[in-house]
Parts: sequence; structure tokens; C-alpha cells
Amino acid sequence: MILPIVAYGDPVLKKVATDIEKNSPEVQQLIADMFETMYNASGVGLAAPQIGQSIRLFVIDGSPFADTDEDEEPDPKAVGMDGFKKVFINAQITKEEGDEWSFNEGCLSIPKIRELVYRNETIHITYRDENWELHSETFDGYKARIIQHEYDHIEGILFTDHLSVLKRKLLTKKLGIISKGELLVDYKMKFPAIRKGR
Ligand code: NI
Repeated sequence: MILPIVAYGDPVLKKVATDIEKNSPEVQQLIADMFETMYNASGVGLAAPQIGQSIRLFVIDGSPFADTDEDEEPDPKAVGMDGFKKVFINAQITKEEGDEWSFNEGCLSIPKIRELVYRNETIHITYRDENWELHSETFDGYKARIIQHEYDHIEGILFTDHLSVLKRKLLTKKLGIISKGELLVDYKMKFPAIRKGR
């Protein structure tokens, strides 16, 4: 089932999400629904707060980042992106390291805005997968980038929080338009500041 994606301005996006206590058919259904919702919106990641649930769950499919152009120099950041589909439950990033690099990020909760965000190149993370198996892994390149963005969501952080005060000020009007739903988006959304009677 495709779920509405919560737009910028909803308080659920600013909350630190809580752990999921145990695996259940409900969790499995939610994972399936989140993948369906993410693919429908052409996203590469989706976190539970974005569908209104403040729990530590996010899903990722980084396949669109795979390097498919054989004529060009291979992009080292894109290694292994083809089929990089994963579920992260109760994730904790234990360490971030390496040089910071910038990438033009977007977010399904903040449609039609993209900005350069700086993040470390490598992360260490522990999490449970969809089979409730515990993992402790290291990721870099675009894998780390997508995980960092989605992990931020379960910590109540949006990519706009990483921007300079000036950059954010320049976006205020656009962000207000998003919160009020006064723009066309080609997937289902829930807007926090929508006016009654519209
Ligand atoms: Ni996002």
C-alpha cells in the first residue's frame, strides 16, 4: 500500500525516533509498504518518520546510483550500488570518518529543493535487518551518503538542518510553500499547514 509522505514542517520529522521492540507481521507489512511508497515516489531511501511513524526504521535502494555508463571513467563512489537494497532497523551510527564531501541532496519530504550537503565519507553502523539479524558494518561512497541522510531522519534531522543560516533563510519561502502544500507533487503527500476547506 502506498502511504502519504509527510511534508516539511510536520513535527514528526523533528522527533528522535524510538527503537522497534520486536519483529512482527506489522513491521514486515510496514517495510513492504515503505518500499512501495519509496519506489512510487522515485526515491532511493525512505525513513519511517516520513510516513508519520516515529520509529527507527528506514529502507534504501541505491540502484539508481549505479554506474552504468561504460564509456566514462568509473565513479569509485558508485561501486556496488546496483542492487544495493537494504532495511535498517534500530540503527546506530557508531562512527563517522574520512574527508567531508559535498553532494546535491534532495528529500521526498522536501520536494523540488536540492542543496549541497557536506558529510564524512565513511560510516560505521550497527542495525538489524528485515530478518531481525544484527549487523555491524562499514559503508562509504553513495552507500554511506544515502544511509547518513536516512539515519538523520530517525534522529529528527533534515538535510536543510545542515545548511548555513543564510542558505536556510533564502529557502524560507519555498519551505513555507511546501508545508502548505501549494505545489504540485506527483506522489501522495500529507501537508502540515494545509488550509481548511481546500
Ligand atoms: Ni529525506
